[in-house]
Amino acid sequence: MKRITIAIDGFSSCGKSTVARALAARLGYSYVDSGAMYRAVTLYCLQHGIIKDGAFVEDEIVRALDHIHLTFQFNPASRSSDTFLNGENIEKQIRTLEVSTMVSPVSKIKEVRRRMVALQRSMGAHKGVVMDGRDIGTNVFPDAELKLFMTADIDVRVQRRVDELRAKGQPVSLDDVRQNLMMRDYEDSHRKENPLTQAPDAVVLDNSELSRDQQLDFVLKLMEEMKLEV
Ligand code: DC
Repeated sequence: MKRITIAIDGFSSCGKSTVARALAARLGYSYVDSGAMYRAVTLYCLQHGIIKDGAFVEDEIVRALDHIHLTFQFNPASRSSDTFLNGENIEKQIRTLEVSTMVSPVSKIKEVRRRMVALQRSMGAHKGVVMDGRDIGTNVFPDAELKLFMTADIDVRVQRRVDELRAKGQPVSLDDVRQNLMMRDYEDSHRKENPLTQAPDAVVLDNSELSRDQQLDFVLKLMEEMKLEV
């Protein structure tokens, strides 16, 4: 069976990883969460005082990149890969609102993107990969056989993210999460380097009212229609 590349882009917290994970499990592909890489760089900079009080010097972040070694290891419980920063599993720490608040400014830096994109391309070099992010179909894998652009109603996204963070024991407010999502949507789609845009050949998936299984059905049907082997 021919293995393909599936690129999923879209706004923050619109369920990209849920679809990507389900799809990868169904197809026997690997799932790569590219946002986790930008989050890991941000976490490192927060931990090392390179980002302080919401501010940073770009050159210091670029210099820190040489000390950041990212690896990924499959976690059978979550059926996806955990992110390791210099050997430490940081999967939980990269999902905090503190990291979410600084990740968009960090991901704007040209050299940060250059390094992360190189890593992403190497991880998808042999196909059989589902990768989600902001610039996967437009920049990382412009030749991906299947591209999805995901979106969902902002109220639905806020509620989903609040539920997710509270389930992890983080006491967040609806207002803080809404503000963070709107800020990231704006910054991610207006930055100079590879902003979030819908690739012309991407298929839109609005999942405001779709369950996980309905989304998976939608994509599998689409693959059949596009004569991509499932
Ligand atoms: O998918 P996520 O919410 O975990 O991503 C966190 C941030 O990382 C997002 O707000 C912008 C950045 N990002 C990016 O610039 N390019 C990607 N391919 C993935 C994420």
